[in-house]
Amino acid sequence: MDNFNDLENVKAYLLERLKSASSFDDISKVKSEFLGKKGFLGKLTSDIAKVPTERRKEYGIRLNLLKKDIEDQISTYEKKFEKDLSKLEYSDLYRSLPGKKPPVGHLNIITQAIEEIVEVFAPLGFNRVRYPEVDREYFVFDALNMPETHPARDEWETFFIDYPGDEKLGRLVITPHTSSGQVREMLKGNLPIRMLNISRCGRRQIDISHVPSFYQFEGLVVDENVSTANLIGVLDYFAKKFFGPDRKTRLRPYHFRFTEPSFEVDIDCGICHGKGCKLCKEGWLELGGSGMVHPNVLKAGGIDPGKYTGFAFGWGVERTFMMKSGTKIDDIRYLFSNDLRFLEQF
Ligand code: FA5
Repeated sequence: MDNFNDLENVKAYLLERLKSASSFDDISKVKSEFLGKKGFLGKLTSDIAKVPTERRKEYGIRLNLLKKDIEDQISTYEKKFEKDLSKLEYSDLYRSLPGKKPPVGHLNIITQAIEEIVEVFAPLGFNRVRYPEVDREYFVFDALNMPETHPARDEWETFFIDYPGDEKLGRLVITPHTSSGQVREMLKGNLPIRMLNISRCGRRQIDISHVPSFYQFEGLVVDENVSTANLIGVLDYFAKKFFGPDRKTRLRPYHFRFTEPSFEVDIDCGICHGKGCKLCKEGWLELGGSGMVHPNVLKAGGIDPGKYTGFAFGWGVERTFMMKSGTKIDDIRYLFSNDLRFLEQF
């Protein structure tokens, strides 16, 4: 083959390769193919031995021109792609920057509150349990000394489920309070009892301090010689641990069918510090009910009221959390708004 022809062919091939390059990397490959140690130019240089002596000088001159031409062409294309590289907003060739972290959420504030409540009661021996959120009327009302026709049932504003009733246990309801777990716990037959039942409840209510779906935590202690002093001691211990030593709580006499005597527990409002605001109205917010377990309830649970006594309390988790010092939540409905700007603050 004519060596001079080869010089022409190499140049044509170079132009073709450069034109089809689409990145700086492509140009680098072309560069090593043509100018690298084992590239075309090296091959053409060693071919000089095959050129007849009288034409070697001319071949050498044309080879040098070709080399210069190749270098210029490649450099032009390198510059073109360098410009494109610099147009990129950012190029981290060595992957040296730490990656972007995906957004990570956190436990819902109600779950956080439940965990904290469990932790406060654990050292006193309270054992966390859960009972059905949809239960039969018997456990929700009848076993708690509230017969079918008793008007007190209206206060619970219950959601009834459209499902066939049971002859003995009655209709199916969304539990309006965690007290439905009291007799279920007693029927397990493990005495003494130190139960902490935390579960979802439902009532047909909605306003600044009520929602249709909320959580309650229910304490139940049954043992020999349990007294009202024990009840007050436990509630006081919880309030001091959860709200801090400076907050005030009070017991108001009340009436529940399943406890006697009964009390409601209020706390000095964490929003207005006892002055009165749109949430609490008069400076105190009701957190829950409590009292000494009624003998009829013990009987329904198969426990001898002559030998055993007990106390119980049932508080709203949301209201308890809202009253925690520093939270400043003055409407319970914020807790269920699913607004990230609100949830991310906790
Ligand atoms: C009861 O539910 C009783 N079972 C409490 C009890 C247990 C008394 C054991 C005696 C012995 P009450 O209806 O007052 O009581 O509700 C207790 C608390 O649950 C309220 O103080 C409030 O904190 C919360 N609560 C009740 N209804 C709602 C609601 N619709 N939205 C948010 N929280 C509520």
